[in-house]
Amino acid sequence: MIEKITSSQQAMDLEAKYGAHNYHPLPVVLAKGKGAKVWDVEGKEYFDFLSAYSAVNQGHCHPKIIKAMTDQAERLTLSSRAFYNDALGVWEKYVTEYFGYDKVLPMNSGAEADETGLKLARRWGVVKKGIPNDKVKIVCCEGNFHGRTITIITMSNDPESYANYGPMTPGFIRIPYNDPDALEQVLAKEGKEIAGFLLEPIQGEAGVYVPDDGYLKKCYDICKKYNVLFMADEVQCGIARTGKMLACDHEGVRPDILILGKALGGGVVPVSCVLADDDIMLNIKPGEHGSTFGGNPIAARVSIAALEVIKEEHLMENAERLGKIFREEISKIKSPMIEKVRGKGLLNAVIIKPKDGKEAWDVCLKMRDLGLLAKPTHQHIIRFAPPLVITEAELRQAIEIIKEALKSFE
Ligand SMILES: Cc1ncc(COP(=O)(O)O)c(C=O)c1O
Repeated sequence: MIEKITSSQQAMDLEAKYGAHNYHPLPVVLAKGKGAKVWDVEGKEYFDFLSAYSAVNQGHCHPKIIKAMTDQAERLTLSSRAFYNDALGVWEKYVTEYFGYDKVLPMNSGAEADETGLKLARRWGVVKKGIPNDKVKIVCCEGNFHGRTITIITMSNDPESYANYGPMTPGFIRIPYNDPDALEQVLAKEGKEIAGFLLEPIQGEAGVYVPDDGYLKKCYDICKKYNVLFMADEVQCGIARTGKMLACDHEGVRPDILILGKALGGGVVPVSCVLADDDIMLNIKPGEHGSTFGGNPIAARVSIAALEVIKEEHLMENAERLGKIFREEISKIKSPMIEKVRGKGLLNAVIIKPKDGKEAWDVCLKMRDLGLLAKPTHQHIIRFAPPLVITEAELRQAIEIIKEALKSFE
């Protein structure tokens, strides 16, 4: 029998009993979303300040994106790449022109796109740079989060991600984040065997770490000096989230390999991709990489609509302007629990100093009670990342909720 959900508790009980316990959600069960707001099973309204980890930049159930999905769903949903479909090429042209690259390779999740980026860099390293196949290496950063596959967790230095999953993938060198000298050192020493340097221009999952101004440009220049590909994982920080189309745009850096996901599918279907020029992309030949669902017609149509909404609704400008207001107003709050406020655009974090045994989790529960949803990352950090369609009035209302929640612990 298919259960009918009539209470939040019932839905949570089902997940606890029948689902794997690989998440620890805030106890709230969502049943509806519109713009920057969501509603639970009982009809209570909340501001969504997580945006599905920045996948819902365009707002929940954006009518234009939903229409693109339903129109396509009535015609053709999946062809696989064994055949052509009449949507994929249209998207490929649109997305390569939008971001300024020769070619795009579509996947579904962010992790798959990162894996694809790694394969492309390794292949380029072997074929174009002449690194022996068994020697090719990729440099990554401490504190990174690129997803959950075995190869990707090999790069992680967070035990929660990598511990007790057996042997890891060889070929990675990890260096400190926000430290261009560390990159120079490793490339000077081992550059001949290094194909790429992969980084998040802002580290999202680590707790919204914004590197020093100039870091990205310095790293890019160092990569060029040693003929190493500069690879940007903009799965979370890209697509208008930080006030520019890409976080790399803040420093005028054009990655050799650009990895996108999340908001590329407008929070409607999983769409991810890797963008690169021919010299890199065409080293992978037919049959050497792929995905059954990657490049499906629904994803293609939805993604075009999602990217159009970003420009039509000036979401970069909104993120830039409202982000400033957010950081300014939160910094003014006099609470012993606020240790630091940081971020760029509408990707922000507040570092919470525990008080009388109350931690970031308790603050999130209180905010939930008051009508705002956010989630701690790494215990003491709360990320605040609303849909970019949020209005100034809504943002100010949300700030009042955050204030009230913090005050309740005084
Ligand atoms: C920077 C970054 N890369 C990759 C991923 C993985 O994306 P997905 O969960 O779609 O595999 C994430 C997810 O949070 C991310 O933040």
